[in-house]
Amino acid sequence: MSDWTDIVDGVIGYVTLLKELGGRVVELPPGFFDAWDKAPPTVPPPHVRAPSRAVEDAALPVARGDAHPPGGGGREALEDIARRVGACAECPLHAAGRTRVVPGQGNPDAPDVMFIGEAPGEEEDRQGLAFVGAAGQFLTKMIQAMGYTRDEVFIANICKCRPPRNRAPEAQEMQKCLPFLREQIRAVRPKVIVLLGGTAIKGILNSQTGVTRMQGVWTAYEGIPVMPTYHPSYVIRFENVGDAAGMKAVKLQVWNALKLVLARLGKPVPQPGKK
Ligand code: URA
Repeated sequence: MSDWTDIVDGVIGYVTLLKELGGRVVELPPGFFDAWDKAPPTVPPPHVRAPSRAVEDAALPVARGDAHPPGGGGREALEDIARRVGACAECPLHAAGRTRVVPGQGNPDAPDVMFIGEAPGEEEDRQGLAFVGAAGQFLTKMIQAMGYTRDEVFIANICKCRPPRNRAPEAQEMQKCLPFLREQIRAVRPKVIVLLGGTAIKGILNSQTGVTRMQGVWTAYEGIPVMPTYHPSYVIRFENVGDAAGMKAVKLQVWNALKLVLARLGKPVPQPGKK
């Protein structure tokens, strides 16, 4: 939450969303809402906004491949970047207790979607892989709900080393690490980028606008369509505090954003129960 406008914005969005949800059957991907459909609603959080304002943008298809900047190089380029990430000592994070660097992983060759998060957590630091902890489990559900496997997309972070105690990366740490991610984007050449949370928005779009305002609204990075949405950790936090209504509201917004991505890619929305 950056300021009071964001909070007010969030409250209005939340109330609108709850009103919309009332009395309406919402189509949801399997697993996305597990455990929450039956849970009683509790006090809503003050920072969840209405569904995407950019539904009409979904009607603008991306011609496959036409948004790509020059680049490519796929796997070899990524391996080279990963080697340099491993040797990097440009910011304090390399010496701040990291176990392994986490360059990112997945389909190196023009995948439909590249997901970008914040920085590795404890489990990622242990395994050297992005999004393999609790937040990663929810990201996996998001990916599967879209009809993909984790291997079919690319997953990376703004920072490649774990910040101490999972704090948000500092500006200087992001600045030092961002060139690696920019190179990765050029090497991978995704058709769409999904930004997960405020740090990813700040890093890639150089924007101070909070995720509550950006989420669900198309923007672009180097000609590649970009869809910002909430970070999986933000979503699962509602579960941790037992807020079923908040959880449902925020998941619906994430799902709406992902459906916009599918529409832009010209992909059908997978039907519940079918792959
Ligand atoms: N959160 C992130 O932003 N990235 C990860 O890889 C794991 C958790």
